[in-house]
Amino acid sequence: MNILAELRKRFEPVLAEWTEDPSSVIEMLKASQDAKFGDYQANFAMPLANRIKGTSPRDLAAQIVEKVDLSDLCEPLEVAGPGFINIKLKQDCLEAQTQQLVTDDRLGVSVTETPQKVVVDFSAPNVAKPMHVGHLRSTVIGDANYRILKFLGHDVVGDNHIGDWGTQFGMITFGYKHFLNEAAFEKEPVHELARLYRLVNQLSDYHSTKQAVPLRQNDLEQLEAKLQTLESTADQTDKKIQKQEKKLKSDIAVRKSELTSMQEKLTALEQDEDLHSKAVAFPDIARQAREETANLHAGDAENLALWKQFLPACLEAIQVVYDRLDIHFDMSLGESFYHPMLADVVEDLKQKGLAKESQGAICVFVKGFKAPFIVKKQDGAFTYATTDLATIKYRAEELKADRVLYVVDSRQSEHFQLLFATVKEWGFQNLELQHVSFGSVLGKDGKPLKTRAGDNVGLESLLDESIQRAYTIIAENDEAKPDGPELSEAERKQIAEIIGLGGIKYADLKHNRDSDYMFDWDKMLANRGDTATYMQYAYARVSGIFRKGQIDRKSLRANQSALRLQEETERALALQINRYSEILESVGIEARPNYLTNYLFELSNLFSSFYNQCHVLKAEEEQVKTSRLLLCDLTARVIEHGLSLLGIRTCERM
Ligand code: ARG
Repeated sequence: MNILAELRKRFEPVLAEWTEDPSSVIEMLKASQDAKFGDYQANFAMPLANRIKGTSPRDLAAQIVEKVDLSDLCEPLEVAGPGFINIKLKQDCLEAQTQQLVTDDRLGVSVTETPQKVVVDFSAPNVAKPMHVGHLRSTVIGDANYRILKFLGHDVVGDNHIGDWGTQFGMITFGYKHFLNEAAFEKEPVHELARLYRLVNQLSDYHSTKQAVPLRQNDLEQLEAKLQTLESTADQTDKKIQKQEKKLKSDIAVRKSELTSMQEKLTALEQDEDLHSKAVAFPDIARQAREETANLHAGDAENLALWKQFLPACLEAIQVVYDRLDIHFDMSLGESFYHPMLADVVEDLKQKGLAKESQGAICVFVKGFKAPFIVKKQDGAFTYATTDLATIKYRAEELKADRVLYVVDSRQSEHFQLLFATVKEWGFQNLELQHVSFGSVLGKDGKPLKTRAGDNVGLESLLDESIQRAYTIIAENDEAKPDGPELSEAERKQIAEIIGLGGIKYADLKHNRDSDYMFDWDKMLANRGDTATYMQYAYARVSGIFRKGQIDRKSLRANQSALRLQEETERALALQINRYSEILESVGIEARPNYLTNYLFELSNLFSSFYNQCHVLKAEEEQVKTSRLLLCDLTARVIEHGLSLLGIRTCERM
């Protein structure tokens, strides 16, 4: 049972006496932060009393308490301080609820009464280049939301909206036509395509940097001249002038260092004879690559044939990563799938009076937005926006979706705001659209994580490194066990895989997704603190208890022995176990897996306190021992289940 939901349901009709819209304040009933204020606490008397003349929040709280009937669930309610209502569950009620969970496969989480068809749009890399660390967040956060919504009983479609039609294909097509190493392509097409992509990127970057340098120099000279004028003419004691000079100096320093790194980049390329001769031979490579993309889109037979040849290799390469991460999609309709629908979308928008021509492009001007939503560019090309509009139409009409989650980088939030606003005017009013945005993965220097050479960190090498590091830790721990090592080489390897991959996923999921987070190996794999490892240890510890006591968990559950909560730590642990459904439901609404990680961390901490305080196998009475074993079993089940919803596995021993 979702206790929080039940409490809210009981309070709502009572509150209706003081407000027309109880739902607007009902969320002020929450789990309490501190056990001394009870298990749950309600603060709605404060805002409600504000709206009623002559009633103090305390009086109002007392009146509410008088009216609400919770006698079957709770101890008599208490009014505290200025008007807080403290709610404590009755012992027998908490015991009975916990007892029910023992034989409940769903651990108290009910199947939703209002199932929706939900499309989760996640991962979505632009293929033709290797997956890098930037793709991790969408993949991992998307997968967790996918699993949780499914468990809650929704009809969920995981759709990998891969970028299989964009400019990167023009780049590799150009590379293929001019720089192909045939033998390498025969042997490892994906590698060769990635090399071609990097090469073309590097060459066009070279030319754009070369063009930018004189402009930058000019910029810098102007700033320097301005500074000089200030220094020679203005009153140097004036605070304002001092401030201006300081600002100018720091701007100059930034420009200078940018200019230096641009020049370094140019020199490095010029020193590589082969690269430099290629750069000289193709001064207009960026435009040529764009043309290759345009030709592909226009149906050019040669480019289309190449695209068809490249795509399977690209998909195979990303599949390797998904297999390792245990990520599955129900469909992977890439951008190319929608290409044939784009012209109709633009026509329809025009006919409905939503899209207009502006400076040769076709745009939707959305109320409240400065930038227009461009659906067809001056050169006739459709855009990312057009594709997303076609995708929505398809998801609404063909997939019959009720809700779509876009698990995409926060840098695209303006795109999604415009998209959603356009869609509301276009139709599809009942479709719920949600941008599940997230920040970047940063290195220890606070900048986006890069390799020493300045490249994006490849996702595969990141996984390899994590598993390698986990292996070292596990082997060390095993060697240090009091009775000698317990694990075979194969077991160590298997556990390293579980810990290594789990650590990466968990580190990504535990942060509020809106913020950036700093990638830190040591913190990520530590066996204490808010890490997957810590929870995996708690799980393995419980398994150890049952192994040691030679107790079969299934028969223990089937025995129907009474579960009693005598110690404070037992009670606190049981309450947390009961809150599982409440947490999952809130993740389902807000698409924030970090609520679940927080919950599991708290659960593991409470388990640790319980285990330090209460003997389990050595409990004096048989009844107490059984009851505690039941609590251990429940804790382990919730940890295992919760982690599995995050795509993280557990192991019986570590
Ligand atoms: N491929 C895009 C990118 O890498 C992300 C696509 C997200 N999904 C969408 N429907 N726009 O930026």
